[in-house]
Order: sequence, then structure tokens, then C-alpha cells
Amino acid sequence: MEFDARWHWPPVWPTLFCCVSLISSLLMLLTIFTKMIDLRTTSKLQSTGSAPGDGYPPVEPLLDFDWKTKEPIKIRPFKPKYNLTMSKSLLFFDKFTFTDILQGIQETTVNELIEMDKNYLDRIMLRRRLMADYTNTVLAAEDSVKSAVDEFYTWLVGTYLPTRYPRMFQIISPPGGNSSVLRNLVTGEDLSMCSSEAPKETLRALGGLVDDDFLFLVPSEDGDSFTLKGFVTCFPNGFNTSKKLNMKLRDIHKPVPNYKEKLEKSMDRYFAKLKPGRFIKRANLFTASGNHLYEGEKISQEEVNIKLARVRVERQFLHRLPRSQAIVFSFKTLLYTLPEIKEEGFGDELADAIDGLNNGNAPGFHFYKRAAVWGASAKAYLQS
Ligand code: HEM
Repeated sequence: MEFDARWHWPPVWPTLFCCVSLISSLLMLLTIFTKMIDLRTTSKLQSTGSAPGDGYPPVEPLLDFDWKTKEPIKIRPFKPKYNLTMSKSLLFFDKFTFTDILQGIQETTVNELIEMDKNYLDRIMLRRRLMADYTNTVLAAEDSVKSAVDEFYTWLVGTYLPTRYPRMFQIISPPGGNSSVLRNLVTGEDLSMCSSEAPKETLRALGGLVDDDFLFLVPSEDGDSFTLKGFVTCFPNGFNTSKKLNMKLRDIHKPVPNYKEKLEKSMDRYFAKLKPGRFIKRANLFTASGNHLYEGEKISQEEVNIKLARVRVERQFLHRLPRSQAIVFSFKTLLYTLPEIKEEGFGDELADAIDGLNNGNAPGFHFYKRAAVWGASAKAYLQS
């Protein structure tokens, strides 16, 4: 039979045309598909606040949050007996939004990590001044902490802040393909989304961005416990953090009365077992004036100046970083006046809590927290 090429070999130009159309359609489909994945990732980040692969739980947005009108959170961890324990015992009252515990710890969520309020701008400006004037006291980082600091910074700037507080922080992609920045809508500044080469500079950026202090602990080289390798602490309570650098958890807490007997073992165990994705909070209380008293220091009775004295509460958080496995200990410092506490009707509770420092399982706290110095005078005012 004669072979008819007209039917078996299609003409060259239409075939070429078909191939080109097929390839360009495939390319178009591929582009649309990639864009869809991109869009899904972005919208997932915006709606759930988690970028795939960062290992953190999703962050819920506070869409209407207005920092200017938000009063500082009121934490009133006053207990008639001060017991040093890691237990999860709840506070005896929860009138306020932040139901808390005293020495014990409480499980919470990623959402609560950073709390904003109307003091934000004043506080970050003060923090920046402190970091400039007292750099070596408030900032430090060993090279070994870089990956942990970078991991936390990129998540905070790239995910947490713009998701949780979209009216304060926005990710801006400048035209011309330049890298995105975090715009602080309160200060009008743009902040790089990438960490600095030096971890100390990344900590400086972090310290001037939110009103929280951060301490980074990495697993100790000998595999026993965790060691402090970097920090930005503008408001440490009665200790010099730079003196604690490169110390293990138990050595950091050496001046804390009864720490060795009551807390050391359980805290080391707790830290070793803490899994990424869990967030732990704790509140600690006071001092009304001055700092701590350490062994050997003298007690002198002080008259509390009601106008100047402050009840100090730290809203503390603990979590483990998903990638580097370092532990981040962070805290926001809240200050309340004695008249404020009294007007709320907590005068007697606070007076009992001052005595309670003597009545629990670690009576040395009455001395350590300087209640021996200012307690009598503060109680007289609170109960008057
Ligand atoms: C669940 C975790 C923790 C618990 C239960 C705990 C417990 C305590 C307690 C009871 C005190 C005495 C003052 C107070 O009432 O707060 C204290 C002080 C202190 N803690 Fe912790 N702590 C924890 C985590 C950490 C971490 C991760 C660091 C990181 C460096 C740290 C650093 C300090 C320092 C520097 C002091 C002051 C010590 C001094 O007076 O020199 N704590 N801690």
C-alpha cells in the first residue's frame, strides 16, 4: 500500500504552533499555581499568624487593638503565705484579666507573649536611652547565642508583631524589589526584618522595639542545665545581669533564699523537658523601694515615701525556640503606686502578703525582698 505522508506527518508550522501554545499554557498554569501557593502562604500568615516552617504556634490578631487607650495590665499576686515552689497552684483571686499565680507557674499561649499598653512609646524611648548609656550592663551576647537571637528576632518581627498588633506594626514591601521592612506605625520607623551580623545589635533592636526584657539560655556545653548566653535587660530587679552571663541557671539563682533545696532540681528538670510551642507564665512581686538584700547586708528601717514607692510586678514568660532549642525568658515590668492598690481595696491583702514573706516555706524572702527594711512602714500606710 502506498504511504500518504499528508495524513501521517502533519505540516510543520501548525505543529510548531501547537507545541508553543502547549508549552506557554503549561508555563502560565505553573505561574498561576506558584502564585496561588504564595497567596495561600501570605494569607495563612495574615489570618493565622504562622509562617510555614517557623515551628511556632499560630498567633491570633488583635484587629482593633488601640495601644493609646489600653491601660497597663493589673496583676495582683498578693498571697498571705510565700511558698517557693514550681507548682501550678492558682492565685486565690482572679478579679483581673490576668489570672495568675505567685511563685508557681502557669501554662498560657503564644498570643500573650507581648503585652502592649499606653506606656509603649515612653517605655521604648527610655529603653533606648538606657541601652545607649549603660550598654555593657544591659546588653550582652556571646557568639554562641547568635542562632537563637536571630531565630527569635525574625519570628517576632516577621510574624508575631505584625499579626498580633496590626495597628501598630505592618510589613511593608517597598517598590523596586527592595527587601521588606517592619514599619512601626507608632514611631514611623522602618526596621529591617533581617537580624544583624552581631547578636548584640539584634538584641539592641529587640530591646528598643518592645517593652520586654529578654534573656537567652542555651543548653550548657557539659549537657547539665542551661547557661545564660545573651540578654537585653533594661529593668532588672536588683541584680546586674552582666554578672550572670555564662552562668548556669542554678548559679544565677544562688542569692535566692532556699533555691537549692526548693527549686533547683525541679527547675532543671522542667527546663530540660520544656517543649517548643509551650508558653509558661509567672508573676513575681515587689520591692516597694530599693532592690534586694543579700546575706551579710544590714537591715535599717526605712520610712516608705508613699509618693515615690512602687509595687513592682514582673509578668514573666518562658518558652523554647523551635529550631535552636534555646530557652527565652522574658519579662515586662509593671509598676503600681501604693495608693492605687489601696483604693482598689487590696491594702489588707498586700499588707498580709508582706507578712506572708516570713510565713511560707522560705522565710529568708522577707529579708531578700527588703521587706525587713520597708515592710513596717508600708503596712502602716496600707492598713490605715
Ligand atoms: C520558671 C522559671 C523560674 C522561676 C520559678 C524562678 C524563680 C526565681 C525566684 C523565686 C527568684 C527570687 C525573686 C522572685 O521572687 O522572683 C528569682 C530571681 C532571679 N531569677 Fe529566676 N526563676 C525562673 C527563671 C529564671 C530564668 C530563666 C532566669 C534567667 C537568667 C532567671 C534569673 C533570675 C535572676 C537573675 C534572679 C535574681 C537573683 C539575684 O538576686 O541575684 N530566672 N527567680
